[in-house]
Amino acid sequence: MTDKTPAAPIPLTVLGTGAMGTALVRAWLAAGHPVTVWNRTAARAEALAAEGATVAASAAEAVAANRLVIVCLLDDASVGAALDGAGLTGRDLVNLTTGTPAEGRARAAWAQDRGARFLDGGIMAVPPAIGSPDSGGYVFYSGSAELFADHRDTLAVPAGTRYVGTDPGFAALHDVALLSAMYGMFAGMAHAFALIGPEDIAPKDFAPLLVSWLGAMSGSAHKAADRLTSGDYTKDVVSNLAMQVAGSATLLRTAEEQGVSAELLTPYLALMERRVAEGHGEEDTTGLVHLLSPRSADS
Ligand SMILES: NC(=O)c1ccc[n+]([C@@H]2O[C@H](COP(=O)([O-])OP(=O)(O)OC[C@H]3O[C@@H](n4cnc5c(N)ncnc54)[C@H](OP(=O)(O)O)[C@@H]3O)[C@@H](O)[C@H]2O)c1
Repeated sequence: MTDKTPAAPIPLTVLGTGAMGTALVRAWLAAGHPVTVWNRTAARAEALAAEGATVAASAAEAVAANRLVIVCLLDDASVGAALDGAGLTGRDLVNLTTGTPAEGRARAAWAQDRGARFLDGGIMAVPPAIGSPDSGGYVFYSGSAELFADHRDTLAVPAGTRYVGTDPGFAALHDVALLSAMYGMFAGMAHAFALIGPEDIAPKDFAPLLVSWLGAMSGSAHKAADRLTSGDYTKDVVSNLAMQVAGSATLLRTAEEQGVSAELLTPYLALMERRVAEGHGEEDTTGLVHLLSPRSADS
């Protein structure tokens, strides 16, 4: 082999051929990787055999087939159930099953006890975005830096890769933090659509306004990060919390006028009021982080 000869695609195993596992397998097959698959319900793996995958009769057989083992199952309990009895010594286990940080850490210790290197992953993509480099989808990885370095090119086939540290809980933490922020945004969109709902305003005309407004407002994350880093939440504040709390009455009255429940809005407004009541009216909303997180040192 000369220096210019690309390395042959490495063989790998995928446990779990649900919607996400199937998309992952197809991406690796398309890139020329030999893939061994296993799924609890065998029929769900059969379609992939026609596409070139080798279907193993058991999870243990699939794990024995290759050093690199990808797991993409429903939850951490299913990972434990599937791998029970499989020989993991010398394996590189990459767990792309969504879980909590504590589950990622416990699963890493569990894998290490069984002689495997371990990497946890959090997939920031839906199945149709897998294997589509322009989709913007990616996977957070954390855990064994050596495993990540050794398999980085293979892991980059289905989606972009972002390694976020040796703590095996960090991939899940980053994943869940972003998902949680997303639900805040979904909550805001639901409330906004409910407000315009009774009126002669077409949702399809309103949607572009929401997209551009939320996009512009999301840039405030950079300012919040600067303030959290410096510890000064009053620097360069243009919309102070006292003013925002006063204005929130308008939001609540408008919801009432439109016959819309304010239940998605009121918890956040209550936090803003509490922070002002505690004497922080000159801040922006960054200080709410301290009300939510008892482990943050309050200013
Ligand atoms: N789909 C998405 O948009 C998306 C996006 C990001 C991350 N994820 C994550 O990817 C993972 C897989 O999601 P998915 O969309 O592929 O879900 P899915 O289509 O519901 O597939 C679930 C998989 O888990 C298996 N499974 C469930 N319980 C099991 C058990 N006790 N023992 C062994 N296998 C078990 C299922 O096997 P059977 O076929 O036998 O039921 C199937 O292979 C999840 O952790 C999910 O959070 C999904």
